[in-house]
Amino acid sequence: MPLHRVNQITIGVPNVDATGKYYTDFGLTPSGNQTGSEILDFSTTDGGEQLRLVYSERRKLVELRIGADDPDDIDRIAAALARLEIPATRLDAGIRAIDPGTQVSVVVEVADPIGQNAAPTPAYNAPADPARPNTRAPGVERTESVRPRKLGHVVIGSTDQQGSQRFFGDGLGLKVSDTVPGLAAFMRCSTDHHNVLVQQAPLAFLHHTAWEVDDIDEVGRGATAMLEGHPDRHVWGLGRHHVGSNFFWYLRDPAGNFSEYYSDLDCIVDDALWKPGVFEGARGLYNWGPPPPASFLAPEDLAELMAAGHGVH
Ligand SMILES: [Fe+2]
Repeated sequence: MPLHRVNQITIGVPNVDATGKYYTDFGLTPSGNQTGSEILDFSTTDGGEQLRLVYSERRKLVELRIGADDPDDIDRIAAALARLEIPATRLDAGIRAIDPGTQVSVVVEVADPIGQNAAPTPAYNAPADPARPNTRAPGVERTESVRPRKLGHVVIGSTDQQGSQRFFGDGLGLKVSDTVPGLAAFMRCSTDHHNVLVQQAPLAFLHHTAWEVDDIDEVGRGATAMLEGHPDRHVWGLGRHHVGSNFFWYLRDPAGNFSEYYSDLDCIVDDALWKPGVFEGARGLYNWGPPPPASFLAPEDLAELMAAGHGVH
């Protein structure tokens, strides 16, 4: 696959320090000395530096960096963007363009594949099949803090969902895994079911970022630790999505961005064997779990963000 990973994102927030503390609690590893710094970088265990926080008057996804195999891929993207009449800037080993619908600056650059060691699959007892005889579940014996393996996906609102789908799909080469007609497209730049989900919205904004952990116990342990002393961080979970199949739990950072712990996302390793589906309504959103709160579907600060956006122009 010419595109193979999400490299890094930059999120702009008005409160860099407080948001940085949140992502440290979330299990990301801060780089270097962060005291008084205006740019904060954070690593996942497998993906390296994948989150950068910078100051911004209102919260937003500033930049998304995607990894490609080789320079030929960059040439192909340059030609495709030119056909779409989208201005682009060539970089040393990449290309940068802004998607008008989401206002995100996207860089595709030549990068090494992400190196992930397989997580041991926990043995689960099943009816008449005690795969874990005479022992407690490994999930309840864990004491170490949860550390996300990698950044999996971003979900962004677009004022022109179809235009954004053209940008990421026809322009950059992401593939469509599933769609919610007129509302959203789940797109991938790796074998993950989705790495970029663009949804129609009244304004361009960052809905959430999603971070992969080993299994459902890590989803639950991670969120439980985050909520200790901070019940206000809870947004939605625990549940299982229908589209993408992943277990999820969403939390809110101090700037208002949602961050998701997830595991067991569908993987598409052979494009020919995956049948993209079309999903309508809540069924697409979740298979089981508590119903999504209104604030998940429309974050509470949207009106404020819209007003701020209009104030700029
Ligand atoms: Fe998600």
